[in-house]
Parts: sequence; C-alpha cells; structure tokens
Amino acid sequence: MFTALVLSEYSAGFDVAKLLGLEIVAIHEKEFPDEELYVRILEPDRVKSRNIIVFSTLYPKQERALLKTLLAVDAAKRAGALEVTAVIPYLAYARQDKLFLPGEPVSASLIIELLKNTGVNRLVTVDVHSLHVLESLPGKALNVMVSDLLVEHALKYLVDPLIIAPDKGAYERACYAARTHGLKCDYLIKQRDRITGEVSYTPREISVSNRDVVLVDDIISTGGTVAEATKILITQGARRVIVAATHGLLVGGAMKKLEEAGVYRVLLANTLNIKHAHPLIEYIDISTRLASELKKFLGI
Ligand code: R5P
Repeated sequence: MFTALVLSEYSAGFDVAKLLGLEIVAIHEKEFPDEELYVRILEPDRVKSRNIIVFSTLYPKQERALLKTLLAVDAAKRAGALEVTAVIPYLAYARQDKLFLPGEPVSASLIIELLKNTGVNRLVTVDVHSLHVLESLPGKALNVMVSDLLVEHALKYLVDPLIIAPDKGAYERACYAARTHGLKCDYLIKQRDRITGEVSYTPREISVSNRDVVLVDDIISTGGTVAEATKILITQGARRVIVAATHGLLVGGAMKKLEEAGVYRVLLANTLNIKHAHPLIEYIDISTRLASELKKFLGI
C-alpha cells in the first residue's frame, strides 16, 4: 500500500498522486526566522507501516529543495514508514557525474548517497543527465524518458523533422524520441571549456538543408548549448528549429540567446518548481507519463 507526501517544491506531484489514486498525507512546511527549514507530517499515524512516495524536485534553490526532501524522508522513516520512494523529476547536480578536473567532487554520487543514507529505498527521476548516476541503486532506480512527448508536441508545427542532439551525450535521448515517431536522428560535436563553461562546435555536415529540426536536450541552463547548435543548423540550411528540452532552468538571459539564435519554439516538461512566461515557451505536462511509469515500477 502506497501513501504520498508531496512537498511544495513539486506541486505537479499532487496530480501524479491523484492519477495513481494514492492517499496524500499533508505536510506542514515552514522556514525559521534564521532561514532554517522545517517539515512536519501532519498525521504521522497514516504513514506508519506504509510504503511512502515522497514527491519533490530540486530546482530552483537546489540546496534548500534537497534539504527539504531529506527532512521529509527522515520524518517519514521516524513515523514508521516501510519503504520510501523519492520521486524527483529534476535531479540537481547530476551533470557533475565524474571528475572532469583534478580536485573536483563527484556531486551526482554525493546527492544519491545523501538520499540513500537518509532512507530512500527507490528513486524515480526524469531524463537524468546520464544513467550511470543511478548505478548505485541497482534495480531500485527508474529514469522516466519524456523526450518523445516533447517531440510529439513539436510535430504539431513541423513536417518530417530531423531530430538532432546538440552533443553526443544527448544522442540516445534524441534517438529514443526519433524512434518513437519514426524519424531520423543525428548529433553535433560540442566542446565545453571546463573553466569558462563556453560552448563551441566542431563543424559536422548534417544534411539539414530545407529540413525542419527538433533539437533535443535534457537541460537548458544558460541556453549556450542550444543557441549555438541552432545557429549552426540554420547556417547549414535548416528551416525551423524547435528546441525540446526536459528541464528548462533558463538562467542568465537564456531566452534572449535562443530568440537571437532564431529558435522557433521552446518546449519544456513541467519538471521544475518554476514556470517561465515567454511567447516562445510551451510546457508539456508529463504527469500521466510519470504516473504510468511509477505504476509499472512500483506495482501500484
Ligand atoms: C550538458 O551536457 C547538458 O546536457 C546540457 O546541454 C547543458 O547543461 C546545457 O547548459 P547550457 O544551457 O548552459 O549550455
């Protein structure tokens, strides 16, 4: 039997919990005057001896959202929960998934260890940056792919588009969406300066002349990656370029970069606790996909 705890970080968690017909136990959340965080399960008896699903997400304010998630998991365990599944559509810090430069931490492993050590038995996330981040939870982690839903929406605007990944890391994600819709996929060759963060591309001829393109990525942060990729594709003759990215952080003038690059539309999933208002942006609701994947994974 599963019961849901939904943190204010991820209000769409209420929709997912309802789609699954789960009981939802309310949580009281507050911040002390010194900005420390507090959560309390309002009816802890309803958590006792139950399998609990904690819905949260880790953007914006990643560190506070993570701490609040850990507090909720700890509270559930102390209230006598059996197993705890954390549903965290956006897993912050997942991009630092290895040592790129000497002296760095592996932030992604640390986040997973913190969740596990606090009592998370299973983890469900959406379009995680790289799957190997979940390897320390063998059989207990699920990565829900939604790039096909974003591409499905793009098909309302584009004719037989080519699905392009802005780098090799996003290629599998792009091809998954392409396969689902019977389309072709390819990728660009991106380099990122590990010190400055600047993105550059090695020219690679992809036959995009007179073709519509959907650029599929997991995250738009500063917009540098998809803006540069769009410029290259347009230079190579692409017609309309739609960006389909799961997690739209959109920091530091990202949308301006995308507009200037000539992006036709930006399609994002509702995985974050923030929605950006901009005429080019459309949000795609992934609650139904998340609910059906959770149902299979947990046997609800
Ligand atoms: C990196 O490999 C990711 O998949 C994204 O491409 C990257 O995080 C996007 O960042 P930005 O928008 O700052 O270029």
